[in-house]
Formats: sequence, structure tokens, C-alpha cells
Amino acid sequence: MNDRNDRRTFLGAFVSFLLALPLIGPALLALVSFVSPAPREGGGEIPLIPLDQIPEGEPKRVRLQYVRQVGPYREEVEKVLYLRRKGDEVLALSSECTHLGCPVRYKKDKKHFACPCHGGVFNLEGERIEGPPPRPLDRYPILPPETKGAPVRLQLKV
Ligand code: FES
Repeated sequence: MNDRNDRRTFLGAFVSFLLALPLIGPALLALVSFVSPAPREGGGEIPLIPLDQIPEGEPKRVRLQYVRQVGPYREEVEKVLYLRRKGDEVLALSSECTHLGCPVRYKKDKKHFACPCHGGVFNLEGERIEGPPPRPLDRYPILPPETKGAPVRLQLKV
């Protein structure tokens, strides 16, 4: 009789543990990220292209790949940016729409960026001119080339 009760108690505890797993997992992850918050970008610089390859009037689409450290994990990141030069300064805009994150495309004939998802439109400076996006396209800081002819560098957010 005692063996039977022990088995029942054990099975009850085991089933309770299994049922609680979906609740325990996220709580543990939240605790770990609180104790060791993941860097947003990890900081650092990424060489892009030389200044003379960035057009002055039209934005140039640039695909970017790098690895960032997120807590104990390494994550491959892929981004598409639009680069445009104003003299020696470079404007780098994210291609991610600030509404729900769809990729915007540059429309050469209209000289603006259009989002195919819900009709968001941004001007050449990345400011919203139509549609639901709540704010301008994100901008990335660009560092000048270290030497003449060297690539400009994208400063990652920390
Ligand atoms: S995601 Fe771009 S307008 Fe909605």
C-alpha cells in the first residue's frame, strides 16, 4: 500500500513538473537576461565601401553581414542599408520600415522609399511622408575612412 502511495506521489509530482515547464522556461530566460543583459548590437565597426563608390544623389543599396555576440550566443545578422553621400558625409538608412519591419525599396522615379506592406513612404532623408510608420527610418552613424581610398565604416550601436 505504501509503495503504491509513493508511486502516486512521485507520478503526481512528475506530471506537475512537466506541466510547469512552459512557465519555468521563460521565467529562467528572463532571469538570465536580467542578470546578463544582451548587447543590442555589440558595438564595433564594420568597413563598408570607399567614399567615391557612394553616389551623391541616389541612395546605394548595400547588403551587410556580420556576427554579433548576444550573451553567450553568436548570432549572424543580415541587414540592408541605403547609403547616400553629401560631400564627405554619408547618410546610412536602415531598409527596415518602422511600422512593422518590412523592407522598404528605393523608387528611383519618385525619389522616395516605399514600403510594400501597408503603403508607408519615406523621403530621401528617411523621414516619413505617408502611411502608418510612426517614425523615420533608422539611421546608422558612419565613420570616415581611416586613410584616403579606404572604406567608410559603420558604427554599430552598443
Ligand atoms: S510595415 Fe511598412 S507600412 Fe507597414
